[in-house]
Amino acid sequence: MTYNIAIDGPAGAGKSTIAKKIAKKLGYIYVDTGAMYRAMALYLLREQIEPSETEKINVKCMEADISIGYENGEQIVYLNGENVNGLIRTEEVGNMASASSPNPNVRKKMVHLQQKLAASENVVMDGRDIGTCVLPNAQVKVYLTADSRVRAGRRYDELTQKGISCDFDTIEKDIIERDRQDMTREISPLKQAEDAKVIDSSHMTIDEVVDAIIALVH
Ligand code: DC
Repeated sequence: MTYNIAIDGPAGAGKSTIAKKIAKKLGYIYVDTGAMYRAMALYLLREQIEPSETEKINVKCMEADISIGYENGEQIVYLNGENVNGLIRTEEVGNMASASSPNPNVRKKMVHLQQKLAASENVVMDGRDIGTCVLPNAQVKVYLTADSRVRAGRRYDELTQKGISCDFDTIEKDIIERDRQDMTREISPLKQAEDAKVIDSSHMTIDEVVDAIIALVH
Protein backbone atom coordinates (compact mmCIF):
# COMPACT_ATOMS: atom_id res chain seq x y z
CA MET A 1 0.00 0.00 0.00
CA THR A 2 1.22 3.52 -0.72
CA TYR A 3 1.32 6.39 1.77
CA ASN A 4 -0.53 9.51 0.62
CA ILE A 5 -0.42 13.02 2.06
CA ALA A 6 -3.10 15.42 0.74
CA ILE A 7 -2.65 19.18 1.04
CA ASP A 8 -5.49 21.44 -0.08
CA GLY A 9 -6.05 25.15 0.25
CA PRO A 10 -6.55 28.46 -1.56
CA ALA A 11 -4.12 30.05 -4.04
CA GLY A 12 -0.90 31.32 -2.49
CA ALA A 13 -1.26 29.53 0.86
CA GLY A 14 2.20 28.02 0.34
CA LYS A 15 1.03 24.54 -0.61
CA SER A 16 3.65 23.79 -3.26
CA THR A 17 6.63 25.13 -1.27
CA ILE A 18 5.58 23.14 1.78
CA ALA A 19 4.62 19.97 -0.13
CA LYS A 20 7.94 19.95 -2.00
CA LYS A 21 9.91 20.16 1.25
CA ILE A 22 7.90 17.40 2.89
CA ALA A 23 8.31 15.16 -0.14
CA LYS A 24 12.07 15.67 -0.05
CA LYS A 25 12.29 14.94 3.68
CA LEU A 26 10.25 11.76 3.41
CA GLY A 27 11.57 10.59 0.03
CA TYR A 28 8.08 10.78 -1.49
CA ILE A 29 7.04 12.11 -4.88
CA TYR A 30 5.56 15.61 -5.00
CA VAL A 31 2.53 15.95 -7.24
CA ASP A 32 1.49 19.52 -8.10
CA THR A 33 -2.06 19.06 -9.43
CA GLY A 34 -2.50 22.81 -10.06
CA ALA A 35 0.26 22.55 -12.68
CA MET A 36 -1.85 19.99 -14.56
CA TYR A 37 -4.87 22.32 -14.62
CA ARG A 38 -2.54 25.14 -15.68
CA ALA A 39 -1.19 23.06 -18.59
CA MET A 40 -4.77 22.44 -19.72
CA ALA A 41 -5.46 26.18 -19.39
CA LEU A 42 -2.43 26.97 -21.54
CA TYR A 43 -3.78 24.65 -24.22
CA LEU A 44 -7.17 26.39 -24.13
CA LEU A 45 -5.57 29.86 -24.30
CA ARG A 46 -3.49 28.77 -27.28
CA GLU A 47 -6.73 27.69 -28.93
CA GLN A 48 -7.93 31.27 -28.30
CA ILE A 49 -10.77 30.15 -26.08
CA GLU A 50 -12.15 32.64 -23.55
CA PRO A 51 -12.66 31.58 -19.90
CA SER A 52 -16.41 32.12 -20.34
CA GLU A 53 -16.75 29.74 -23.34
CA THR A 54 -17.71 26.68 -21.32
CA GLU A 55 -19.07 24.63 -24.23
CA LYS A 56 -15.87 25.09 -26.26
CA ILE A 57 -13.78 24.16 -23.21
CA ASN A 58 -15.83 20.99 -22.80
CA VAL A 59 -15.01 19.87 -26.34
CA LYS A 60 -11.47 21.19 -26.79
CA CYS A 61 -10.10 19.82 -23.51
CA MET A 62 -10.42 16.33 -24.93
CA GLU A 63 -7.65 17.11 -27.44
CA ALA A 64 -5.07 17.97 -24.79
CA ASP A 65 -2.87 15.18 -23.50
CA ILE A 66 -1.44 16.14 -20.11
CA SER A 67 1.17 13.97 -18.44
CA ILE A 68 3.83 14.42 -15.82
CA GLY A 69 7.37 13.17 -15.38
CA TYR A 70 10.30 13.89 -13.06
CA GLU A 71 13.76 15.29 -13.78
CA ASN A 72 16.21 15.64 -10.88
CA GLY A 73 13.28 15.40 -8.46
CA GLU A 74 11.41 18.22 -10.19
CA GLN A 75 7.93 17.64 -11.64
CA ILE A 76 7.71 18.33 -15.36
CA VAL A 77 4.29 18.84 -16.95
CA TYR A 78 3.92 17.87 -20.58
CA LEU A 79 1.20 19.24 -22.84
CA ASN A 80 0.91 17.03 -25.92
CA GLY A 81 4.52 16.00 -25.34
CA GLU A 82 5.91 19.53 -24.82
CA ASN A 83 7.53 20.49 -21.49
CA VAL A 84 5.44 23.55 -20.48
CA ASN A 85 6.84 24.15 -16.98
CA GLY A 86 8.22 27.55 -17.99
CA LEU A 87 4.93 28.76 -19.48
CA ILE A 88 2.27 28.03 -16.87
CA ARG A 89 3.10 30.36 -13.95
CA THR A 90 1.50 33.54 -15.31
CA GLU A 91 -1.61 35.15 -13.83
CA GLU A 92 -3.35 34.73 -17.21
CA VAL A 93 -2.83 30.97 -17.14
CA GLY A 94 -3.78 30.81 -13.43
CA ASN A 95 -7.04 32.63 -14.05
CA MET A 96 -7.86 30.41 -17.03
CA ALA A 97 -7.06 27.33 -14.91
CA SER A 98 -9.49 28.50 -12.25
CA ALA A 99 -12.17 29.21 -14.89
CA SER A 100 -11.73 25.94 -16.82
CA SER A 101 -11.17 23.52 -13.91
CA PRO A 102 -14.89 23.30 -12.97
CA ASN A 103 -15.47 21.57 -16.31
CA PRO A 104 -16.40 17.91 -15.70
CA ASN A 105 -14.38 16.60 -18.66
CA VAL A 106 -11.30 18.50 -17.53
CA ARG A 107 -11.63 17.17 -13.97
CA LYS A 108 -12.27 13.58 -15.00
CA LYS A 109 -9.03 13.48 -16.99
CA MET A 110 -6.93 15.05 -14.24
CA VAL A 111 -8.37 13.07 -11.32
CA HIS A 112 -7.79 9.79 -13.14
CA LEU A 113 -4.13 10.63 -13.71
CA GLN A 114 -3.68 11.79 -10.10
CA GLN A 115 -5.26 8.66 -8.61
CA LYS A 116 -3.09 6.41 -10.78
CA LEU A 117 0.04 8.17 -9.54
CA ALA A 118 -0.96 7.98 -5.87
CA ALA A 119 -1.73 4.26 -6.17
CA SER A 120 1.75 3.47 -7.45
CA GLU A 121 3.94 5.85 -5.38
CA ASN A 122 4.09 7.44 -1.94
CA VAL A 123 3.00 10.99 -2.70
CA VAL A 124 2.57 14.43 -1.25
CA MET A 125 -0.15 15.84 -3.50
CA ASP A 126 -1.43 19.40 -3.37
CA GLY A 127 -4.49 21.00 -4.93
CA ARG A 128 -8.08 21.92 -4.11
CA ASP A 129 -9.95 18.61 -3.98
CA ILE A 130 -7.26 16.11 -3.00
CA GLY A 131 -8.52 15.26 0.51
CA THR A 132 -12.18 15.47 -0.48
CA CYS A 133 -12.28 13.76 -3.92
CA VAL A 134 -8.99 12.55 -5.38
CA LEU A 135 -7.55 10.74 -2.35
CA PRO A 136 -10.38 10.38 0.19
CA ASN A 137 -8.34 7.65 1.95
CA ALA A 138 -5.12 9.65 2.26
CA GLN A 139 -3.44 8.86 5.58
CA VAL A 140 -2.76 12.55 6.28
CA LYS A 141 -4.95 15.46 5.12
CA VAL A 142 -4.09 19.10 5.62
CA TYR A 143 -6.10 22.22 4.77
CA LEU A 144 -3.49 24.96 4.46
CA THR A 145 -4.74 28.52 4.43
CA ALA A 146 -3.56 32.10 5.07
CA ASP A 147 -4.95 35.63 5.04
CA SER A 148 -5.57 36.94 1.47
CA ARG A 149 -3.17 39.89 1.92
CA VAL A 150 -0.40 37.57 3.06
CA ARG A 151 -1.08 35.27 0.12
CA ALA A 152 -1.08 38.17 -2.35
CA GLY A 153 2.24 39.32 -0.91
CA ARG A 154 3.77 35.90 -1.46
CA ARG A 155 2.58 35.72 -5.08
CA TYR A 156 3.87 39.26 -5.65
CA ASP A 157 7.33 38.34 -4.31
CA GLU A 158 7.40 35.12 -6.35
CA LEU A 159 6.57 36.96 -9.60
CA THR A 160 8.88 39.94 -9.04
CA GLN A 161 11.76 37.61 -8.16
CA LYS A 162 11.27 36.02 -11.55
CA GLY A 163 11.44 39.47 -13.14
CA ILE A 164 7.72 39.51 -14.00
CA SER A 165 6.29 42.97 -13.32
CA CYS A 166 2.98 43.00 -11.46
CA ASP A 167 0.69 45.09 -9.29
CA PHE A 168 -0.06 44.07 -5.67
CA ASP A 169 -3.71 45.18 -5.62
CA THR A 170 -4.47 43.41 -8.89
CA ILE A 171 -2.93 40.22 -7.51
CA GLU A 172 -4.97 40.42 -4.30
CA LYS A 173 -8.16 41.05 -6.29
CA ASP A 174 -7.34 38.06 -8.54
CA ILE A 175 -6.68 35.86 -5.51
CA ILE A 176 -9.99 36.77 -3.90
CA GLU A 177 -11.82 36.14 -7.20
CA ARG A 178 -9.97 32.84 -7.66
CA ASP A 179 -10.97 31.75 -4.10
CA ARG A 180 -14.57 32.60 -4.90
CA GLN A 181 -14.52 30.60 -8.14
CA ASP A 182 -12.73 27.61 -6.59
CA MET A 183 -14.98 27.52 -3.50
CA THR A 184 -18.36 28.02 -5.14
CA ARG A 185 -18.12 25.77 -8.20
CA GLU A 186 -20.50 22.84 -8.35
CA ILE A 187 -18.02 20.03 -8.92
CA SER A 188 -15.33 19.37 -6.29
CA PRO A 189 -15.25 22.86 -4.78
CA LEU A 190 -12.34 23.83 -2.57
CA LYS A 191 -13.38 22.97 0.95
CA GLN A 192 -11.89 21.48 4.01
CA ALA A 193 -12.23 17.68 4.25
CA GLU A 194 -13.96 16.71 7.50
CA ASP A 195 -10.89 14.79 8.64
CA ALA A 196 -8.35 17.43 7.51
CA LYS A 197 -6.13 19.28 9.95
CA VAL A 198 -6.40 23.05 9.36
CA ILE A 199 -3.14 25.00 9.39
CA ASP A 200 -3.20 28.80 9.02
CA SER A 201 0.25 29.79 7.76
CA SER A 202 -0.29 33.61 7.95
CA HIS A 203 2.10 33.95 10.86
CA MET A 204 4.16 30.79 10.46
CA THR A 205 7.49 30.23 8.73
CA ILE A 206 7.79 27.60 6.01
CA ASP A 207 9.78 25.31 8.32
CA GLU A 208 7.20 25.62 11.10
CA VAL A 209 4.47 24.46 8.72
CA VAL A 210 6.66 21.63 7.37
CA ASP A 211 7.41 20.45 10.92
CA ALA A 212 3.73 20.58 11.89
CA ILE A 213 2.81 18.34 8.95
CA ILE A 214 5.71 15.93 9.49
CA ALA A 215 4.52 15.60 13.10
CA LEU A 216 1.11 14.52 11.77
CA VAL A 217 2.78 11.85 9.63
CA HIS A 218 4.69 10.50 12.61
O1 DC B 1 -2.66 25.84 -7.27
P1 DC B 1 -2.69 26.63 -8.59
O2 DC B 1 -2.83 28.11 -8.41
O3 DC B 1 -1.55 26.25 -9.46
O4 DC B 1 -4.04 26.12 -9.33
C1 DC B 1 -4.54 26.74 -10.48
C2 DC B 1 -6.04 26.49 -10.59
O5 DC B 1 -6.30 25.12 -10.88
C3 DC B 1 -6.85 26.79 -9.33
O6 DC B 1 -7.34 28.11 -9.34
C4 DC B 1 -7.99 25.81 -9.37
C5 DC B 1 -7.49 24.68 -10.21
N1 DC B 1 -7.20 23.46 -9.45
C6 DC B 1 -8.26 22.61 -9.20
O7 DC B 1 -9.38 22.90 -9.58
N2 DC B 1 -8.04 21.44 -8.56
C7 DC B 1 -6.81 21.11 -8.13
N3 DC B 1 -6.64 19.93 -7.51
C8 DC B 1 -5.72 21.99 -8.34
C9 DC B 1 -5.96 23.18 -8.99
